[in-house]
Amino acid sequence: MERKRVGIVGVTGYTGMELCRLLVGHPALELVAATSRTEAGKTLGVLYPYLQQTPMAEIVVQEPDPAALAKTCDLVFLAVPHGTAMHVAHALLAAGCRVVDLSADFRLRHRAVYEEWYATAHSCPDLLTQAVYGLPELYGEAVRWAQLVANPGCYPTASILALYPALAAQLIFPDDLVIDAKSGASGAGRKATVATLFCEVHDTFRAYNLGRHRHTPEIEQELSQAAGQPLTVSFNPHLVPMDRGILATCYARLRPGVDEATVRDVYADFVTGKPWLRLLPAGVLPETRWVRGTNWCDLGLVVDRRTHRLVVVTAIDNLCRGASGQAVVNANLMLGLPEDLGLSRSPVVP
Ligand SMILES: NC(=O)c1ccc[n+]([C@@H]2O[C@H](COP(=O)([O-])OP(=O)(O)OC[C@H]3O[C@@H](n4cnc5c(N)ncnc54)[C@H](OP(=O)(O)O)[C@@H]3O)[C@@H](O)[C@H]2O)c1
Repeated sequence: MERKRVGIVGVTGYTGMELCRLLVGHPALELVAATSRTEAGKTLGVLYPYLQQTPMAEIVVQEPDPAALAKTCDLVFLAVPHGTAMHVAHALLAAGCRVVDLSADFRLRHRAVYEEWYATAHSCPDLLTQAVYGLPELYGEAVRWAQLVANPGCYPTASILALYPALAAQLIFPDDLVIDAKSGASGAGRKATVATLFCEVHDTFRAYNLGRHRHTPEIEQELSQAAGQPLTVSFNPHLVPMDRGILATCYARLRPGVDEATVRDVYADFVTGKPWLRLLPAGVLPETRWVRGTNWCDLGLVVDRRTHRLVVVTAIDNLCRGASGQAVVNANLMLGLPEDLGLSRSPVVP
């Protein structure tokens, strides 16, 4: 099989590291370039000793230079902060290179919404309408033809997959949706901040950014699409003392007459044929350790008959399914490869 050449911008971050881990075993994608401003000149084998004795160990990290990347790569993963990614993506696309952007810069379809929530001007708003939102279960076909894929956020991946089927099938009312989501500390990235120091995260549990987290409009955008009308969600993120993983518990009011069997049938239909969704049996709820390091999104359903609520619980790994694993799926689709190529489906060590 002819291997496609890929690059990573931002190889020293958590999602860049995770991309390395996934690409080292990929039979059809070859990492040929990786960038960092702070570690340029070192080899990946020095930066990440676990890559020793793999072909990737000899790759020398370079300064981010879109023109140089476009000469050597068929596709580039952008694993950099929002606000930076848009400039790099614009330059790469202009040079004819395809892009999977892991940042939020192209996820929102409307410039005004992006600029309001991210408090920064968008430098290439024309690309917002070209970008395909890379949630493969919803947009896999469009991803195949995209030049630019906006890889979904970690919380949005867990939240949208939880509520999309029930909204699309009109099992629940589109108002009063509550998402109570918990993430491990790697969700905040690898740069040093007080909030993610060991003593600030270990042995405590806290909510943050209630009512104003930047993933809110992304979740609302996609769930509005499912409901066929604009909706709002109450999105409530929490930081848990884990290094990776997201558990989202989502609450919605069931429409009259909707019972547990109907809900289960709709979700069973939704997961059918989708390689990375697992609907757990009745009475079993997802756990982050069952999806660790994988691309799985596990779903658990509870119909609370007393309150007539649907509770959907999803678990993903924020760095794999919520970022780099999903990015590899999107790259597979864009490059005409099987969707699940290079991603392990083996059970994890619990
Ligand atoms: N962490 C997650 O769970 C997660 C999940 C989904 C999506 N994302 C998104 O994915 C992106 C990367 O996240 P991360 O957690 O990997 O971040 P991170 O750990 O903070 O790493 C950021 C990377 O970007 C590079 N970088 C920073 N500023 C740059 C600039 N101005 N120009 C070029 N390179 C720059 C950094 O390397 P140098 O400073 O050495 O250049 C580093 O390699 C972010 O947009 C994030 O929102 C993260």
